[in-house]
Amino acid sequence: MGFGRGKVILLGEHAVVHGYPAIAVGIERGVTAEASPAERDLLRLSPWDLALRPDPEGGEPLERAFAVALALYPERPALEVNAQVELPAGAGLGCSAAIGVAILDAIDEALGIERPRTDLAAAALGWERVFHGNPSGIDNTMSAVGGVALYRKGAALQPLRSNKPLHLVIGYSGESSSTKEMVASVRRQLQGDPGRVNKAFEGIEVLVRNAKLAIEAGDHIALGQLLDLNHTILSSLMLCTTKLDEMCQAARRAGALGAKMTGAGGGGCMFALAPKHDEAIRLRDVLGEGSFVAEVSA
Ligand code: MEV
Repeated sequence: MGFGRGKVILLGEHAVVHGYPAIAVGIERGVTAEASPAERDLLRLSPWDLALRPDPEGGEPLERAFAVALALYPERPALEVNAQVELPAGAGLGCSAAIGVAILDAIDEALGIERPRTDLAAAALGWERVFHGNPSGIDNTMSAVGGVALYRKGAALQPLRSNKPLHLVIGYSGESSSTKEMVASVRRQLQGDPGRVNKAFEGIEVLVRNAKLAIEAGDHIALGQLLDLNHTILSSLMLCTTKLDEMCQAARRAGALGAKMTGAGGGGCMFALAPKHDEAIRLRDVLGEGSFVAEVSA
């Protein structure tokens, strides 16, 4: 069975596209896939009831991405791949990357190919480019590798260690957004006002560096404060919505140590850091439909 995790960026999204570091976690919820020899290449995706063929010129990104994935295996039989998606799409949890990683993992398994998860992550970047243009690579990397890690484009992934698990509660705003458009919006702001946007990125980098220390020291009170500050900087880049802000405020009022939008923004998900498991369950109820708890060990 192939598997690609969903991911949550704790701090550093958007700045990471421009070469700054970010910290992210891989979660248990994701995409599973199975591949088997068939008469013709076909990709089925549930629960969306989608069946499609690879097409490098196709109108659907999934058709083009599937063609990119299959082209990585020049010598192979025709394959039918069945993928089960358990993440909301366009919600900042790395759904497209998780589909790509799960499919490649399933094809590897069907063809008897064994390779490190970091190589699988690198192989999935071409898939991810179809959806997001010029992604930083954080989504496919965390989807394949998991854990808690500091990611910087072009550098080796730096796993973080701590003896205290992170109790995260992920809340879905119900608004979907396009990563490509949100990344393009930040790029336009950067071109229009490089001084302001570079300052924002530098501020985010300081928060990421401090968050690394806080995670390693198990200081979740400090980590929560850093998440709140990162949320404010992302708001200044016009990436938050009223709904996401309200959800973060509700989580903080209900006892979260910190709360922040995650991923591309413009909708999608936020998450809250809970002090312990019971509190995470309570916060999940506060955040309502579509929210879930993710316990992550560093
Ligand atoms: C998307 O999950 C994260 C962004 O930083 C884009 C990227 O890193 O490619 C917004």
